[in-house]
Amino acid sequence: MPKVTIDGRTIEVADGTTILQAARMIGPEVAPPTMCYHSKLKSSGGYCRTCLVEVTKGSEKDPRPMPKLMASCRTHVMDGMEVGNFTSTKVIEARKSVVEFLLLNHPLDCPICDQAGECQLQDLSYENGSAKTRTDFERRTFEKIDIGSKIQLHMTRCILCYRCVKVAEQITDGRVHGVFNRGDHSEISTYINQAIDNDFSGNMIDVCPVGALTDKTFRFKSRVWFTKPMQAHRNCDKCSGKVNLWYKGEEVLRVTGRKDQWGEVEEFICNTCRFDKKNTGDWTIEGPAHIHHHSVISANHYEVFTKPQEFKLNVVTPITIEEGSN
Ligand code: SF4
Ligand code: FES
Repeated sequence: MPKVTIDGRTIEVADGTTILQAARMIGPEVAPPTMCYHSKLKSSGGYCRTCLVEVTKGSEKDPRPMPKLMASCRTHVMDGMEVGNFTSTKVIEARKSVVEFLLLNHPLDCPICDQAGECQLQDLSYENGSAKTRTDFERRTFEKIDIGSKIQLHMTRCILCYRCVKVAEQITDGRVHGVFNRGDHSEISTYINQAIDNDFSGNMIDVCPVGALTDKTFRFKSRVWFTKPMQAHRNCDKCSGKVNLWYKGEEVLRVTGRKDQWGEVEEFICNTCRFDKKNTGDWTIEGPAHIHHHSVISANHYEVFTKPQEFKLNVVTPITIEEGSN
């Protein structure tokens, strides 16, 4: 089994493991950020370059460094490999440029964007971005498109990560959308404006790292930090039925899949659970969803929900909030 050292931490992994997967096994302190890779979607990754790392030693057999920074989500570990991520000044500089590139056309409309507070690009730019822009040309803009009755595409915000395309390819029947055109004319669209309407299409909303694909049943209803996520489940014949319910007061404003500590969906859910089950009575409530203490969602008196029975729900297992996820 090959051994790899990332930012001075060594781990032994199975053959075929990527640098990103090895780094995640070590922990968040060495794991590169990602925007297009998604662990539950095959062949994702390789589009955004957010996860670039410096391979300072190729392997035990061939210790020469790799000449360019490598996409860690697409580069396999070799025995004896040494990798710099947060310890590499080249990587830190490159990541700033990647953020600048991703923001070239992305509007700075966080104050009105539904994704604000849970946007991976927002987090990435806070950590790696610059407060100033070097560009003064007009950003490209698109009309908003309804794709299906429940999803809105705001292509102006899309960073072309391809995650939604992989969802459509891998977990829905008959994909009818994809990336059209090339270069700076690329856009997500549907064939002849066909609606995306099948049981699992809503997962595109959950995998979109920015606010390009949003839930029309939730749009503009509340800022996410004013809502309280609760884990809940129901018997569903189409999916696992394990979700997060996002409450405002006693009203369920939206239903989403649960996300892991990397912000990636744990189990995809069907559209019935997502769009048609918005009454507390439809669900068995487990307790508050785990929210990382850095997340803005954990602010705003979230702790009142550590005793979910006080919330008058049919709670089965009270859970207290812990750090380290979502
Ligand atoms: S719409 Fe969202 S998920 Fe789809 S490619 Fe654009 S940014 Fe990625
Ligand atoms: S996460 Fe590796 S290239 Fe996007």
